[in-house]
Amino acid sequence: MGSKPRSLSGIKPTGTPHLGNYLGMIKPAIQLQETHETFYFIADYHALTSMRDPKQLREHTYDLTAIFAALGMDFESHAFFRQSDIPEVTELTWILSCITSKGLMERAHAYKDAVSKDQEVSVGLFCYPVLMACDILIYDSNHVPVGQDQRQHLEITRDLAIRFNHLYGEVFVIPEAIIEKNIATIPGLDGRKMSKSYENVIPLFAPEKQFRKAIMKITTDSKSVEESKDPETCSVFALYSCFSTKADQEALAERYRAGGMGYSEAKQLCFEALNAELNEPREIFQQIRNDQSELDGILESGRDKARAIARQVTDRVRSKVGL
Ligand code: ADP
Ligand code: TRP
Repeated sequence: MGSKPRSLSGIKPTGTPHLGNYLGMIKPAIQLQETHETFYFIADYHALTSMRDPKQLREHTYDLTAIFAALGMDFESHAFFRQSDIPEVTELTWILSCITSKGLMERAHAYKDAVSKDQEVSVGLFCYPVLMACDILIYDSNHVPVGQDQRQHLEITRDLAIRFNHLYGEVFVIPEAIIEKNIATIPGLDGRKMSKSYENVIPLFAPEKQFRKAIMKITTDSKSVEESKDPETCSVFALYSCFSTKADQEALAERYRAGGMGYSEAKQLCFEALNAELNEPREIFQQIRNDQSELDGILESGRDKARAIARQVTDRVRSKVGL
């Protein structure tokens, strides 16, 4: 730890993590361990904006911890923790809220989306981007790996940090988003964005049989085996591309265009490519998921590392604003 840039990200424990979460956020975040000091956390305060089931919230928190362990997160050298184990983050949220204009929050996508669907909007949901900005700023984070859908939240974070620095002097590091360009948005079983809220997900670590079954359910067009097919518009091909080499992708694209290959064969190839990458981590996941004291130990050691930094940054802020 020390001289490397710091990367930070969070993921909400709101459901079973899926391939979209894996490709859009978890995998790139884990790869950054090579070049960064990483701080990753489970955004359980954020989850409260939509979740009302305490048991599920706890279970999903352990699921995510075990997932990061299975995928090779090094908990000795990096920090992995629960958002709610760092009380400073809510302390900072109040201070930052006081320089956040209501208009900025009204332009946030998640809020606008809820309003357009006539959903009830809690104050928590409305202020969601301020809490997220504090998650990032409180650790002097340099880089934030997230999926495409989080881009606006990062822009809001930067706006708030710049505004604060302008008002009170240089306090916050201005963070940058890291968004995988090749992996824009992973389509789900129905072709829409894969998302827990659309019930169209392929769970990351479902048992192998169930995993294969989910891949076989991906919606395609109704072309016959003989017909030529378009790889560019096919969700099966899009998913396969995320787990294969350029050469393998070109070979499959060629077979799509030539005709003579049915979608069920493409799905089988897709399953094999995914399974080759995920089979071993799935087994590790199943072992570690049952070891609650190991998972608690991971979260406690992450909490201690994260809290030390959070306290320093919050104290810097308190002193600047006159508290
Ligand atoms: P969900 O939409 O399923 O509720 P979250 O909002 O919890 O997922 O997202 C957690 C992380 O995974 C975020 O960084 C998000 O950008 C990324 N992510 C979620 N769904 C996808 C997807 N379909 N493709 C790429 N990245 C995704
Ligand atoms: N809002 C993010 C999501 O829905 C989760 C999140 C909360 C987060 N705080 C963060 C991501 C800080 C990156 C950095 O996926």
